[in-house]
Amino acid sequence: MSKPLLEIWNLCAFYGRAQVLFDVTFRLHPGEVMALVGRNGAGKTTTLKAIMGLVSASAKQATFKGHSLDRLPTYRIARLGLGYVPEDRRIFTDLTVEENLETGRRPAGAGRSPWTPERLFRLFPNLAEMRGRRGNQMSGGEQQMLSIARTLMGNPDAILLDEPSEGIAPVIVQTMAEAVRAMKAEGVAVLLSEQNWAFAAGISDRACVIERGEIRFQGSMAELMADEALRAETLGV
Ligand SMILES: Nc1ncnc2c1ncn2[C@@H]1O[C@H](COP(=O)(O)OP(=O)(O)OP(=O)(O)O)[C@@H](O)[C@H]1O
Ligand SMILES: [Mg+2]
Repeated sequence: MSKPLLEIWNLCAFYGRAQVLFDVTFRLHPGEVMALVGRNGAGKTTTLKAIMGLVSASAKQATFKGHSLDRLPTYRIARLGLGYVPEDRRIFTDLTVEENLETGRRPAGAGRSPWTPERLFRLFPNLAEMRGRRGNQMSGGEQQMLSIARTLMGNPDAILLDEPSEGIAPVIVQTMAEAVRAMKAEGVAVLLSEQNWAFAAGISDRACVIERGEIRFQGSMAELMADEALRAETLGV
């Protein structure tokens, strides 16, 4: 297998005196979609936040494209090419779709064709139809798409998506799945935190199962699909 793009070892995190992550270790390879699946409160969001340097009481060893992330502030991690779309959609509600996209623009790495609003509108056709609309006049699912599109404007090599399918209409979940496949086709690696098993299973190459802050499984999605006992125990599906 290719060299990992993002590698995390022994990530531990605490809120106050409560430890919520225990030696979380995994790798994300270039251009793959990996699901981080687990029940409510298992530690998915904390894992993504800690990777981005947003959990103060955490200790990790992590590299992205060979650079250590251990002591970098969040903005430097993002500038290395690691995009992050949190569960609470980060868009500017007073700005239009097009203006929101412009706020995310950053140069593409050497040899990569940059994302443009036009390319993103092909990926998210609903956004194309509302390019002049302000963020506060969009549904939750539309805001979620805009949040992802805005992150792609920064031309990341990998993107961390926290529950992109949560709280959005079924037809939009379908568009979201197509968008994740398209990102992968464009060479963007995706780490997808999800509780929606059907959505995650349909688009991911590999999976990590997290339970009470510990990684219980890491392997191919096909392997996890086949392991009914593990799924029932850790995911209830
Ligand atoms: N800011 C916080 N302060 C204290 N405890 C927290 C905080 N955020 C999360 N926790 C606790 O840490 C644990 C992991 O939470 P986390 O949000 O990472 O889980 P999750 O897998 O993302 O869950 P969900 O599927 O509900 O989004 C849970 O027990 C949660 O209650
Ligand atoms: Mg969460």
